[in-house]
This record gives sequence, structure tokens and C-alpha cells, in this order.
Amino acid sequence: MQGDLERVLFDEPTILRRLDEIAAQISKDYSKKELTVIVVLNGSLVFMADLMRRIQLPLRLDCLSVASYHGKAQTSGEVIFKQIALPDVQDRHILILDDILDSGNTLAAIREKLETLQPRTIKVCVLLSKRKQRSRAIDADYIGFEIEDEFVVGYGLDYDERYRNLPCIGVLRKDLVK
Ligand code: IMP
Ligand code: MG
Repeated sequence: MQGDLERVLFDEPTILRRLDEIAAQISKDYSKKELTVIVVLNGSLVFMADLMRRIQLPLRLDCLSVASYHGKAQTSGEVIFKQIALPDVQDRHILILDDILDSGNTLAAIREKLETLQPRTIKVCVLLSKRKQRSRAIDADYIGFEIEDEFVVGYGLDYDERYRNLPCIGVLRKDLVK
């Protein structure tokens, strides 16, 4: 798997050190609030597991499942909600966790959908944010790392459902991207 990478951007110790910092910030910001974490599956699973164990607060966890990629390295723009029941977030302080902010379509749609459920506050935390012009305006409140506009895999992120179990994050070799 590692041989399919053009180069490694962040190894596991680097990722975990950054998660220590973000978790400390989140723990401070929500110290007097009851936090509900909403995880966007499947790409955020590894990130979520490592981050939530570093947050020193009682919290609730809910999952959302959306699809927008259909196995290609480009967003389709259309966001499909794969589960019927949305989490009950009314009056809650929610923190949406996603793997990567790319075009912004996914997070903007999720944010819009969750806003209709009347949470008290909404914040967004992403592991990675691509430096690029987004098709939808959305800002993350917590960002692990900013990266250039390249296709990356590992640490939960996939290409056609592969590479999620790579412990590091790296740029996929261009000849492997269809
Ligand atoms: P957006 O809607 O374009 O912001 O895309 C968000 C989703 O696309 C993410 O949650 C990822 O699942 C996927 N995605 C975007 N860029 C990458 C990448 O570089 N590698 C792997 N998945 C990506
Ligand atoms: Mg994906």
C-alpha cells in the first residue's frame, strides 16, 4: 500500500501530536458545554477514534453517512444522505467531524441539514483542508492540517474504498488515479 504513495505528507506520530493540540483546544472551548460530536462516515472513522479519546470531556457521539464521490477522484456535487434517521441534536452544542474539506459541498450540505434540526451551536472540525477555491463557502473551526490541492489517502481517507487503513496520510501516485 505504502508503495502506491507518491510521498508521505504526515506520518502517524505527526498526526497524533496535532490531534493532542486540537483535542486540548476543543476541551477548553467546550469545558462548560455538553458536547455532541457528529462523525461523517466512513472517512472520519480513524480520525474520530483518535481525537475523541483525547477530548477530556463527557460527550455524545452520533454518526452521519453521506455519499458524494462514487469512487472517483472528483466530487459529483450531489450529496446523498445514506441513512434515514438524522441524529436528535435539538438544543445541543454540536461539533461535526469530517476527514477533509475539498470542494465544500459535503460539509455545506451537512451543515445546512443539521441547522434545520435546531442545534444550539454548530462547529466544524476537519483533519485536512485543501487550499483551493471552494464551490461552496464553508469554514472549519478546527483544522488539523492545510494541504495543497492534491488527492490524498490513508488514515481513514480512501480512493475507491482502498487505503483507509494506511497509518499515514500521503499523496496517491498520479498513475493510480483514474
Ligand atoms: P467535498 O464535498 O468536495 O468537500 O469533499 C468531501 C469528501 O470528499 C470528503 O469527505 C472525502 O470523503 C472526499 N475527498 C475529498 N478530497 C479527497 C482526497 O484528497 N482524498 C480522499 N477523499 C477525498
Ligand atoms: Mg471518500
